[in-house]
Amino acid sequence: MKNRKKEHLEIIISKDVSHSYNYWDEFFFVHNALPEIDMDEIDTSIEIFGKKLAMPIIIAGMTGGFKEAGIINENLAKIAEKYKIGMGIGSQRAGLEDRSVEESYSIIKKYDIPLKIANIGAPQLLEWKDAIEKAEEAIKMIDADVLAIHLNFLQEVIQPEGERNAKGCIEKIKELSECLTTPIIVKETGAGISKEVAERLLDTDIVGIDVGGAGGTSFAAVEAYRAKKLGDKVQEELGKIFWDWGIPTPYCIIELAELCQENGLILIATGGIRHGLDVAKAIALGADCAGVASAFLTCESIDEKMKVFEKSLKATMFLTGSKNLEELREVELWTF
Ligand SMILES: Cc1cc2nc3c(=O)[nH]c(=O)nc-3n(C[C@H](O)[C@H](O)[C@H](O)COP(=O)(O)O)c2cc1C
Repeated sequence: MKNRKKEHLEIIISKDVSHSYNYWDEFFFVHNALPEIDMDEIDTSIEIFGKKLAMPIIIAGMTGGFKEAGIINENLAKIAEKYKIGMGIGSQRAGLEDRSVEESYSIIKKYDIPLKIANIGAPQLLEWKDAIEKAEEAIKMIDADVLAIHLNFLQEVIQPEGERNAKGCIEKIKELSECLTTPIIVKETGAGISKEVAERLLDTDIVGIDVGGAGGTSFAAVEAYRAKKLGDKVQEELGKIFWDWGIPTPYCIIELAELCQENGLILIATGGIRHGLDVAKAIALGADCAGVASAFLTCESIDEKMKVFEKSLKATMFLTGSKNLEELREVELWTF
């Protein structure tokens, strides 16, 4: 499993595994030629899960479980501390099953990150007999403020050795969300969450949804490359067929915004976010915050990339006359 996680990372860094189309490009802000605000006075801060972030950005959970992953997590943690944004880590299954790799996740505890998100997979919840204890250990491993349970059945269906029994997930999520004192969110990993699924999740005690929608990293694509390497032609072909499967992230946000607001759930837009203009679109469509994964992994300098995020978010707010995120939320977006 350690090798599999390493392979995913190598494929994502070396190959183009993006969806063929980025749906954030379908939305346009109405330019405000008379913004009547001072750009230096723009406030991009937000409070979510009781924590204050300087920008509505979370580094989405990606890695952990081997030495190089620890280095990546430490580099990301430094950025999360410096820019005062949230940070998730990759699935902690490896760290829970093999204590020798725990450090590759727990390294982030050394940094003053305003919001830390632990991560376990729904398929593991079904597999583990002691799921509650494991979830508690995952939280403790990074002193997490929130635990994300990820849903990745698209990946499981393409992965040659994938777990394809999804029976009982909602019950497990419900049980965990009722038992744990740490708040829980549910997160997709690139195929999106529909309104119908979100409505079913209302029956649990979760506090937020990360829609993890389509348009960015495609795990069907990642698994197609892995299947090719393993010589599994059928799974490779399947990965290509489902390369673009999923609900586009902005459309997930449009679908879920009202439901989440009415039910007090935090809504996170992850999937295909490339810069601060995409972050601003997510907020204007109704998300509380945006999640970013591959853009931070495939860039030359994470620090420079963060500066671009910060400046492009502020530029969008300036050019739409939004002094803060509440005002940005009210700005009109066009689509053709
Ligand atoms: C290398 C890599 C590993 C990932 N591993 C996980 C994981 O273990 N758990 C999880 O919830 N999401 C995982 N994801 C999914 C991301 O959190 C995110 O939902 C997805 O990549 C879409 O965002 P993006 O388009 O900005 O990459 C991973 C993403 C990448 C790029």
